[in-house]
Amino acid sequence: MLNREVLQDSLSLVIDDEHKLMLAFYDRLFDEHPEVRPLFGADLRPQATMLQQAIAAVLDHLDDAEWLGRTLGALGRRHADLGVTPEMYGWVAGALVTTMAERGGGDWTDEMTAAWTEALGAVAGLMLDAYPAVAD
Ligand code: HEM
Repeated sequence: MLNREVLQDSLSLVIDDEHKLMLAFYDRLFDEHPEVRPLFGADLRPQATMLQQAIAAVLDHLDDAEWLGRTLGALGRRHADLGVTPEMYGWVAGALVTTMAERGGGDWTDEMTAAWTEALGAVAGLMLDAYPAVAD
């Protein structure tokens, strides 16, 4: 299933204590999809910290389906309340993986891109499973 070693090694390659990766990610996301900027508060630093911690926590629990379902379900319900739509998950994953690849430079591999695309797709799936059913 998910390739823990590739995910962890590639994250260590691009992560930093000053949240440069995360702030570069938000820059790219807002550049590509300006319509999501108003969903966020003015100061992105606390947000960058939370996202970085959430990703680290998911990597620590890749084998714990119960934790993943519970935690990402609750996170998904909060995102539904925030007005985050299903298509935005693809925007976030695309901007994040591209930013990681950019920061990884020549050390970043296609295998890393594939591992992160798969992992973020799985996270999005668990978050979206908790969205309220759309009535039509
Ligand atoms: C990989 C999927 C995602 C993860 C792991 C994630 C993680 C998080 C976390 C941990 C928080 C803080 C939650 C809290 O208040 O306790 C948060 C808040 C938020 N997320 Fe996400 N998120 C994801 C996808 C998205 C997407 C697709 C959007 C849409 C653009 C989004 C927009 C937001 C917004 C607007 C907030 C609140 C910001 C604020 O309070 O200013 N997230 N997210």
